[in-house]
Amino acid sequence: MTEESINLINNQTREAWNATAKVWDERMGDEGNDFYRVLVRPAIEKLLQLKPGQRILDVGCGNGLTTRRLASLGARMLGIDFASEMINNARKRTNYNQELIEYQVLDATDETALLKLCESSFDAAVSAMVLMNMAEIEPLFKALTKLVRPGGCFIFAVMHPCFNSMHTSMAAELIEKENLIYTEYSVKVKAYLKPTKVRGLALENQPQPHTYFHRPLNILLNTAFNAGFVLDGLEEPTFLPELAAENIGIGWSKFSEIPPVIVARLRLL
Ligand SMILES: C[S@@+](CC[C@H](N)C(=O)[O-])C[C@H]1O[C@@H](n2cnc3c(N)ncnc32)[C@H](O)[C@@H]1O
Repeated sequence: MTEESINLINNQTREAWNATAKVWDERMGDEGNDFYRVLVRPAIEKLLQLKPGQRILDVGCGNGLTTRRLASLGARMLGIDFASEMINNARKRTNYNQELIEYQVLDATDETALLKLCESSFDAAVSAMVLMNMAEIEPLFKALTKLVRPGGCFIFAVMHPCFNSMHTSMAAELIEKENLIYTEYSVKVKAYLKPTKVRGLALENQPQPHTYFHRPLNILLNTAFNAGFVLDGLEEPTFLPELAAENIGIGWSKFSEIPPVIVARLRLL
């Protein structure tokens, strides 16, 4: 992609997130949805192993779910997001631990802007479900190698590119076997290797779609490795099997063996 087309997509994406901020905030509330509470948050916390007093950067903080949560565990937090409406909502929801939390409107694809944050001033960075919304990830990885102290880490959660992308769909088939009829759920994967982008929705009733950027694991991780990170932790969380029976219809709760999210810990040596 040329710089011009990246800027154009980036501006459209920012506009879409600003337009979505109200619906997003209402849906996520103070604690987040099931996807966040059951899958994303525990995996991030497991990999982060936070120590109170540590300074953490939350990239693409949205309405501040992870920023507030980690502050409640004793971290000193900076939450950044390029959508000013998201940051406004994050500020409104921050009623506790205010002395530990700062927010800034900042575009995480802008390496120069990121580097204005103090070098080596973070023990770690986290990012919950953001990289697949970013037109470019290389500037962020490069900047993080300078912003995070040596030995520190960057933990990111994204939609699992193998099983949960614009190229995948869920299927339910009625199977008859040995005089029994049952429903078999599967995920169909139609493509994987080529990086692709598509306009899509994160929520029902989202006023404007935003762009999703599908990157296969080799591109996602090689971008991090080339910047200087190594991979030293990985989680592929799923919903527990008990949930499958409770939920009617087809959704990720039917798949306790197929992860919709991948959460990686990258470290600076
Ligand atoms: C799916 S939401 C996740 C929000 C939050 N991390 C959470 O878990 O609730 C994606 C967020 O990434 C932000 N975002 C997308 N591209 C960004 C960029 N280039 N720089 C900063 N934030 C970005 C959006 O504005 C949005 O708030």
